[in-house]
Amino acid sequence: MHTPDFSRLERLPEPLLAWYDTHRRHLPWREDPAPYHVWLSEIMLQQTRVEAALPYYERFLREVPDIPSLAALPEERLLKLWEGLGYYSRARNLQKAAQLLVERYGGALPADYDAVRALPGVGDYTAGAICSIAFGLPTPAVDGNVVRVVSRLAGDEGDSTRPAVRRDYRERLAALYPAGRAGDFTQALMELGALLCLPNGRPRCGDCPAAAFCAGCASGHPEALPVKPPKKPRRQERRRIWLLLSPAGVLLRRRPARGLLAGLWELPGGPPEAPFPLPELEPAGWIPAGEGRHIFSHVEWQMEAVLGTLEDAPPLPAGWRWADRAALDGEVALPSAFAPFRERVHSELAARGL
Ligand code: ADE
Repeated sequence: MHTPDFSRLERLPEPLLAWYDTHRRHLPWREDPAPYHVWLSEIMLQQTRVEAALPYYERFLREVPDIPSLAALPEERLLKLWEGLGYYSRARNLQKAAQLLVERYGGALPADYDAVRALPGVGDYTAGAICSIAFGLPTPAVDGNVVRVVSRLAGDEGDSTRPAVRRDYRERLAALYPAGRAGDFTQALMELGALLCLPNGRPRCGDCPAAAFCAGCASGHPEALPVKPPKKPRRQERRRIWLLLSPAGVLLRRRPARGLLAGLWELPGGPPEAPFPLPELEPAGWIPAGEGRHIFSHVEWQMEAVLGTLEDAPPLPAGWRWADRAALDGEVALPSAFAPFRERVHSELAARGL
């Protein structure tokens, strides 16, 4: 094990910024880094790749152009705009923060790290990104990409998943921020991690502006860094999904207010051996209706759907509803976890003139 050499970082800003000026991707929040735009983009990018987030970002801004309109947006519409991005608590926190900003700061983000960090949904990484990109403050944003870049540059073979590592890297990088280019330096670090200093054993050192002074590159094994202890495997959960159709549509249930997919509508489901949860609505029979899989961060659902049909549409208890195609396309945000059954639901609805 070698001692990391963090003095190598000092050589980074100039060549990295020159590389960034030529090779950076032109992304909408970079072309117009208004604080609200930067904030929205950073929240979307917390768990979503740039290419996947782009169309959502554009559509969101068209409909919700500023912080006051976000504060006032009906929650149902908010969740619909977020449908497909996943991790819906990001959207709820975004709106909660917008409401706070309207109450306390006249509807604008304050140019202050601690105030931004205190907003719902904003952690150290996001606060650093917003304050450097939108306000030009020397506040690094250290995520997994930046940990990869720094650990390779310095040759840091320590466990990169300890929380102290991000704090340490943040302090070291803060000392290097070039005057007048804080936002570019933050994004250049991210960009290097996204385009060249790649994970999964394929860094492109041949194109890297830091190759000449990078400890990882010099060692011949940059892909060995950062060092991470093996992850716990995801819990596998088998789940039966009940597709129940009536003349009023497909049956949906609201999920509990806390936990996975909190408060969202779902195709009702449960353990494979569990009885159908509304016995008074049990149809005469169920037929197999396909399988699907969805990966969340800590659990994986292996789903088996069954389909049943009712001749009429009885009233439902609170927390349940029928949805026709217009509702699914309109006010209901059905999580991507149920995408494997979407086509089938659409065709069953169409077959009933719904
Ligand atoms: N990932 C997180 N923030 C980003 C940004 N500002 N640009 C590109 N990728 C990012």
